[in-house]
Amino acid sequence: MIPHSKPTISKDDLKAVSQVLASGMLAQGTQVEAFEKSLASRCRVKHAVAVSSGSAALHLALSTLGVGKRDMVAIPSYSCVALLHAVEMVGATPKIIDVDPSTLNLSVKDLKKKWSKKLKAVIVPHMFGFPAEIREIKQLGLPVIEDCAMALGAEYRGKPVGSWGDISVFSFYVTKVLATGEGGMLTTQSKAMADEMRDLRQYDKSESYRLRYNYKMTDMAAALGLSQLRKLDHFLKKRREIAAWYDRFLLGKKLQDGSSYPDRTPLPFRYILKTGKNVQILIRKFKKEGVTAELPVFRPLHHYHRSRPCKIADQVWKSAYSIPIYPTLTDKERRRVIEVVSKVDAE
Ligand SMILES: Cc1ncc(COP(=O)(O)O)c(C=O)c1O
Repeated sequence: MIPHSKPTISKDDLKAVSQVLASGMLAQGTQVEAFEKSLASRCRVKHAVAVSSGSAALHLALSTLGVGKRDMVAIPSYSCVALLHAVEMVGATPKIIDVDPSTLNLSVKDLKKKWSKKLKAVIVPHMFGFPAEIREIKQLGLPVIEDCAMALGAEYRGKPVGSWGDISVFSFYVTKVLATGEGGMLTTQSKAMADEMRDLRQYDKSESYRLRYNYKMTDMAAALGLSQLRKLDHFLKKRREIAAWYDRFLLGKKLQDGSSYPDRTPLPFRYILKTGKNVQILIRKFKKEGVTAELPVFRPLHHYHRSRPCKIADQVWKSAYSIPIYPTLTDKERRRVIEVVSKVDAE
């Protein structure tokens, strides 16, 4: 069976984690600090704060911006449900926005249409590694949480993702570009915000009392992240090679065609195809052929939450699926994926 995603773990990763285990210093410590510094430098920002997951990062981002009960937060419908959870966790109300059919990112047009005075922030994910219209969104004047969970290594107007948001967040869940099992990071140019995030991520050893969390990353995860970060350019190169190779055969079926967006350098985190067939049945057929295909988004967020319809998100959800792409996908496996796409989509 060809899996849909797979972490790239090599001997130097094993060594990095073993060293931490041998040291006996497993909790947040020097490795976390080093990982933060490296990621900040890679994203060309002043501060990075490591946390236990991308979800924790989203929650801390909203808390740091002071979003609370009477506020609304704009999020795109065709995205990870973690966004909805984060908004609910701070007691705010989600304003669910439709997506752009060509980029699958938050639609600026729909955001303007659904604008409300109660909006206190907008979460903007770069879906599947394709940079969103973040500059235009920033010009609307709301604080922007840039969600780079799927996009580490992508660039927008020559600047890395992770440097565009008032706060930017990352996930290092096992399927992501860098995998630490579970893990996340926040980046920002603001010292005050970074201090607030550091204070909130750790509940103990504070003079005053207020609600704080245990969102710390372990040194084991950070050592793995640091070791993986050293290989990021290699990971990006391999992903881009595979995407370019898929393009030779599948461009006509591809969603997120980047050709009309010269200001963006995507990172092919996912390779998304469209079909006129029933996508659930199609995915089951892939499985029978030994290839794992998946729905890129399990369910549009407006299905979970009473809100106005998001027609594009619904259309995409009914027609999009994602095929395996990761640095260790072999030539033989890629050829098999292409064979199965042609066979199953023609049946
Ligand atoms: C866009 C986006 N944001 C946030 C998250 C949440 O990250 P985590 O699984 O590390 O909590 C995900 C997870 O897949 C995601 O895709």
